[in-house]
Amino acid sequence: MATIPLSWSGSVPSSFSPLPQHRRSFTAKPPHFSGQIHRFAVSCNQTNEGQNQEYDPKDVENSRGKLDRRNVLFGMGGLYSAVNLVPSTSPAIATPISSPDFTKCTKGTNLNTNQPLDVNCCPPVSTSIINYKLPPVDKMRVRPAAQLAGEEYYAKFEKAISLMKALPADDPRNFMQQANVHCAYCNLTYEQKGDPDVKLQIHNCWHFYPWHRWYLYFYERILGKLIDDPTFGMPFWNWDHPDGMPMPERYARAASPLYNARRNPTHLSPAVLDLAYAPNSSTAQDKIIPNNLTIVYGEMVRNVKKLDDFYGDKYVTGTAPNPGPGSVERGSHTAAHVWVGEATSTGEDMGNFYSTGRDTLFFAHHANIDRLWSIWRNLRGSQPKDYTEADWLEADYLFYDENADLVRVNVKDTLENEKMGYVYQDRDLPWLKKRPTARVKKSAVAKTSKAPEAAGNFFPVKLDKVVKVLVPRPKKSRNKKDKEKEEELLVIEGIEVDTSKFVKFDVFVNDEDDKPDELDKAEYAGSFSQVPHKNSTTVKTKIRLGLTELLEDLDAEDDEKVLVSLVPKARGEDISIGGIKIIYA
Ligand code: C2O
Repeated sequence: MATIPLSWSGSVPSSFSPLPQHRRSFTAKPPHFSGQIHRFAVSCNQTNEGQNQEYDPKDVENSRGKLDRRNVLFGMGGLYSAVNLVPSTSPAIATPISSPDFTKCTKGTNLNTNQPLDVNCCPPVSTSIINYKLPPVDKMRVRPAAQLAGEEYYAKFEKAISLMKALPADDPRNFMQQANVHCAYCNLTYEQKGDPDVKLQIHNCWHFYPWHRWYLYFYERILGKLIDDPTFGMPFWNWDHPDGMPMPERYARAASPLYNARRNPTHLSPAVLDLAYAPNSSTAQDKIIPNNLTIVYGEMVRNVKKLDDFYGDKYVTGTAPNPGPGSVERGSHTAAHVWVGEATSTGEDMGNFYSTGRDTLFFAHHANIDRLWSIWRNLRGSQPKDYTEADWLEADYLFYDENADLVRVNVKDTLENEKMGYVYQDRDLPWLKKRPTARVKKSAVAKTSKAPEAAGNFFPVKLDKVVKVLVPRPKKSRNKKDKEKEEELLVIEGIEVDTSKFVKFDVFVNDEDDKPDELDKAEYAGSFSQVPHKNSTTVKTKIRLGLTELLEDLDAEDDEKVLVSLVPKARGEDISIGGIKIIYA
């Protein structure tokens, strides 16, 4: 088969020798391409299709046939430059987010106190950016389940991580530089390119899956190149399967390069990851696995009939950070981060966005999230799997690739992992059969409840205790066809939180018993939780929980109201809720 060779031309040591000074500064055009076998379909020395162009923000938009938002505004008489009279979220001029300008990366500011942060995670600057083309796939990389990978695999993987740690500190492929990539994209260090007043944040919105897919993609390619194995696939932490729920044992060996000292020592293997986890609230041992499977079922099937419920909210140029997380992000994802990190308020390394990339386990955790994304798309059948909006598909990000070249990548290239050259080891999905059953049919629970109505001056309400509220259903007794046409959604909005704190609450519908830690029941509707940032800022966010299946399970389809309980699990006193309603989408 005549394809571009996937093998590497140079030996590992020579291709990873310290960069020459002119490359280390990352200001000159990369000179290293001439005469080398290159895996890209288009040589980076060519200038067609915008390859290797000098960085010009306007070109990004123009190359997509779109207008730079600022140009539109300048065209309107330069209003924007003189007085910012245009609201920053005007839908008429929405454009996808665009890769940030690294030269404007800042250490970041605590937006609540205006004090500068003590963490600097800005990447090296390069003026040369390559529009990345997915290379042809010759042989698939297979990502193994971490608990099943053997000695030989780990020997290779550990070697690759050691080599990554041994790269010069200013090499963008170096272990800490790679950790900083995560920090920079989530710690409000970049401004949005089209709207410098708004910070860039790829979490808690519809960029969560595609951005992390690229992040892992290049991480894996760097590791593969370091050990001269173009088929190397990174392991995934198979926490959606009982076999894989403990922290992978290999990561906890002190002599391993996978080891990280900043983990909660009580959560090392054989402890089982608790997806309902919050510090200071414990789940009974025998409930952990059933809870976990029900949680994953909810996040992957029950609560996510609509795209937004799974992916998170729309986020385009001008959108303030954290419009709303998707199901897995607000639940299992956050739980595993915080469960692994130190048991302190800031939770380093895994439990805080700025430091999480310093733990090798982060990548195994996110490989599982990435795998769940692929599984979810496969479960969708004929239902829409992806947004078709350019606001999502055309959004782009910047990463350093395995050759230390700065590349621009987009969302639309991420939709199928096979096209990106990797697959996951097959595992069965025990959660798929875990649709919870109601122990008592709960019809008309709301009728007898003394809880107040979700109306008038009930909001905002603080979650310093369990809050119970009756929420009216604008439609009831819906038939099968209605339900297929429209999903009934519980929307909890105006969730006001400080992003530097770990906060969490669980949501139950028509639940009257006092065991909120049992989540393997039909009344459990979902959770909200967030991984803390270093950057403290107050945000208002929201979540959407699909109710159609839940109301069937509870036999409550004919009820006019539902009783909603919000049960604080972590720092309820720091959570305020702006409103709760039911909508149909
Ligand atoms: Cu980018 Cu799990 O965080």
